[in-house]
Amino acid sequence: MKLSELLDRLTLEEKAGILVGVGGPHMFPGSRVPGAAGETHPVPRVGIPSFVLADGPAGVRIEGGCCTATAFPVAVMLASTWSPEIVEKVGRAIGEEALAYGVDVLLAPALNIHRNPLGGRLFEYFSEDPLLSGVMAAAYVRGVQSTGVGACVKHFVANEQETGRWGLDTVVSERALREIYLRAFEIAVKEGRPWAVMSAYNKLNGVHCSENEWLLTRVLREEWGFQGFVMTDWGAGEDVSRQLRAGNDMIMPGGEDKVKELLEAVRSGKLGMEVVDRSLERVLRVLADSPAFKGYKPSMKPDLEEHARIAYEAAAEGLVLLENNQALPLPADARIAFFGTGHVATVKGGQGSGHTHPPYVSTVLNAARERGLRIDEEVAKTYEEALKDEMPNIEQSFKDEPDKPTLSENFLSESIIEASAARSDAAVVVFSRVSGEGYDLTPEEFYLSSDERWLLEKVSNAFRSAGKKVIVVLNIGNPVEVASWRGLADAILLAWQPGQEAGRVIVDALTGRINPSGKLPVTFPRDYAHVPSWTFPGEPPDNPKRVVYEEGIYVGYRYYDTFGVEPAYPFGHGLSYTTFAYKDLDVTLTRGEVRIRFQVTNTGKLPGKEVAQVYVRAPKGRLDKPFQELKGFKKTRLLNPGESELVEVTVKLSHLASFDGSHWLLEKGTYEVRVGSSSRDIRLTGYFTIPSEERFTRLE
Ligand code: BGC
Repeated sequence: MKLSELLDRLTLEEKAGILVGVGGPHMFPGSRVPGAAGETHPVPRVGIPSFVLADGPAGVRIEGGCCTATAFPVAVMLASTWSPEIVEKVGRAIGEEALAYGVDVLLAPALNIHRNPLGGRLFEYFSEDPLLSGVMAAAYVRGVQSTGVGACVKHFVANEQETGRWGLDTVVSERALREIYLRAFEIAVKEGRPWAVMSAYNKLNGVHCSENEWLLTRVLREEWGFQGFVMTDWGAGEDVSRQLRAGNDMIMPGGEDKVKELLEAVRSGKLGMEVVDRSLERVLRVLADSPAFKGYKPSMKPDLEEHARIAYEAAAEGLVLLENNQALPLPADARIAFFGTGHVATVKGGQGSGHTHPPYVSTVLNAARERGLRIDEEVAKTYEEALKDEMPNIEQSFKDEPDKPTLSENFLSESIIEASAARSDAAVVVFSRVSGEGYDLTPEEFYLSSDERWLLEKVSNAFRSAGKKVIVVLNIGNPVEVASWRGLADAILLAWQPGQEAGRVIVDALTGRINPSGKLPVTFPRDYAHVPSWTFPGEPPDNPKRVVYEEGIYVGYRYYDTFGVEPAYPFGHGLSYTTFAYKDLDVTLTRGEVRIRFQVTNTGKLPGKEVAQVYVRAPKGRLDKPFQELKGFKKTRLLNPGESELVEVTVKLSHLASFDGSHWLLEKGTYEVRVGSSSRDIRLTGYFTIPSEERFTRLE
């Protein structure tokens, strides 16, 4: 049956039931997938099923009771891989699980920008850079959708904090929106073609995102050519009529009140029937391809073993070696003492709608035992004894989303630490952090707590005075302060929150089975006082109603590089157990594009992968510009010692333009191409010249 005929057969009440859903953690009785975030009402009379929407992005979030789903690395770790290929593979695996469990649309990926290191959901977002965020999100979407399940990119737009998120007015200049916040979505929409977009809770420049016609119709549909449908975030916005008119087609989770509001609005003439039909058409055109519409019977049997391998592979690629003073990798027979409660209570991911119910979580301690490492069992047993009472909560946190137990780090006696230093070859201190939806971190949480610092100082003194190495593993979802304590460690491995394979991946990197190849998708500032988003979390700070993005386009490295502020670790930083050399840069300007070619060679002794980054520095022109901007990147294949790869990156000239208030302006002059291993480790520079300025109405 044609869509138009189907629409003619539906009553107004039935239409409202498709556009206004139901939801909550347990749905309505008879819900097809327990624990999914939402569902639409079915219309069996005309063969329209209900459509099930379930969260991501670190895996399918459904209820643990019936089934488990793989916990993949969190998004900031996926971005740290700088590999769209592995992210697409993760997306496909998540899509397969969604399909197997009866989900039609996955509420992921999330691609808000890392504006401030205290953002409670940064773990769910990719990066401070719109290109890296957009490319990763597009890859994720392609992966999910290759399985026949839809992806929904969220939260559109400028939803960079949790404090006050329901009604917060985010005030952003159009230039910053276009170049940073919208740009990430634009890439994801154009290159990923998601079925759906979720509008954000906040207001954008005074208008709720879900009621914002400029955002949802002019920019998203007319400028970017989006063909799918838009749904609200859960409970966002105020007025159903304004939402539908603005281009927000589905109201989630909706409920009876919202159905009533829609019906009354149509009956009273406040909302035209053509607006309802327009939204319905958009929704049904997309969902006609959904598993439910096609009558797919959930197999309930995803290949969890294969997906565990993919989760491991993705986490392995996203590990970032921040520091290594000849401490790593540890020899296979090294005697290792593990410290920090994080080695027992290893954190797989964040909390809130982004959490997952995996079959297990590999902790650092269990993985070290499983791999047969020579660990200091005496210290390990002391930890297990001390955490005995907390163990049920900790184990529950592996499977579900309980409140994070707050574990103290200062219960070891100094004599235990000293005795361990005498009999071990190295100390590994694991610090774990968790955050989640609904709250941001406090500035104090940016720093090590006093007991974490106490532990690190004691371990560092004892081990180093015995000539032994000290390694810190950061099992975290947000950047933390490192500058004041990194001198106490010989190596720092940033493991983020790696999903269910956490322990295995961390242990394998410590012993060299994995050669870290991840790079930072976000700057690690030296101090919280240095972050450019000083207006976070808005005014008034205890219950903000408004946050002004005063820093404009100067987000992350765009700020630190332009204003000469030294970070602790720059954007794009990440070491390897091998070394790479760059040579033979060739920059060629062709019609509408600049082609950048160079060679990367593994000059060390171990096989490894390098993430080659291409930044462009624009000439001084009419508009202010950041010092440099990421314009392309490529992760090499696994290069053996001595092996090389020819890397080619193509950049459209329009992508070098800046938004001047009405157009994209490509200024004339000489541009510098900066190729390197991080934003501050530039190995090759080249130039090209744009003879005369050009303006673009849109970015293609
Ligand atoms: C979150 C969304 C999520 C939705 C459904 C909201 O609170 O912001 O990211 O998809 O709930 O669980």
